[in-house]
Amino acid sequence: MSESLRELLIELEKFGLCNDGAIAERPRRMLNITRDTGEFLSVLVQATNARRVLEIGTSNGYSTLWLAAAAKAIDGHVTTIEPSDFKLSLATSNFERSGLGRYITPIHGEAGAILMQSPESSFDLVFLDSERSEYSGWWPDIKRILRKGGLLVVDNATSHSAELAPFVELVCKDPEFTTCTVPVGNGEFLATRACAQASLLITNRPGHENSGRDR
Ligand SMILES: C[S@@+](CC[C@H](N)C(=O)[O-])C[C@H]1O[C@@H](n2cnc3c(N)ncnc32)[C@H](O)[C@@H]1O
Repeated sequence: MSESLRELLIELEKFGLCNDGAIAERPRRMLNITRDTGEFLSVLVQATNARRVLEIGTSNGYSTLWLAAAAKAIDGHVTTIEPSDFKLSLATSNFERSGLGRYITPIHGEAGAILMQSPESSFDLVFLDSERSEYSGWWPDIKRILRKGGLLVVDNATSHSAELAPFVELVCKDPEFTTCTVPVGNGEFLATRACAQASLLITNRPGHENSGRDR
């Protein structure tokens, strides 16, 4: 990581803490991930060679910069969705300052509508850090756009475990996914979709709705 990016990340950490400490109104708070979550995401992207990353919930782009720095290292790209004009304009300016702009496509909009329009298997890694009450409704599309073998990472798994419980239950009971919760930052819920061959074994498992169909 370049010295200038390191300095920008430190500046944004200070800004986020100071801003969120002074402002109670949620739409004006940055609600950034913690630094160790950024480091964790960076390792995940590179270790899994996740070249097509989708982030839902950009805010001012702090987490996006961690994802984009990792994407740059593997010639990947990050698409990030944010409905707030105010936050997206802060993010856009931070992306320009970071020198990582060409690794990032910011989308101004609401994730539900954008997920619906996204092609099947179009992302290797999805990072979910947005409106938690919407996650269960988004799940069928998140699953559809995540390639087999891909990884879903969800923030706030321990800080807001009760709010996330219905969504976590939905993912955990899906036989295509293997899950765990990692105590980094505010807690990261991880779910990996079985690769193509493993999916075949799952669909042929006795009791699965497709079992026996191809025999
Ligand atoms: C916790 S903040 C994201 C923080 C950011 N990931 C970071 O660590 O720097 C959640 C963001 O989700 C955005 N958001 C709210 N509803 C959304 C929706 N329907 N689709 C996408 N983003 C949404 C909010 O405007 C807010 O900026």
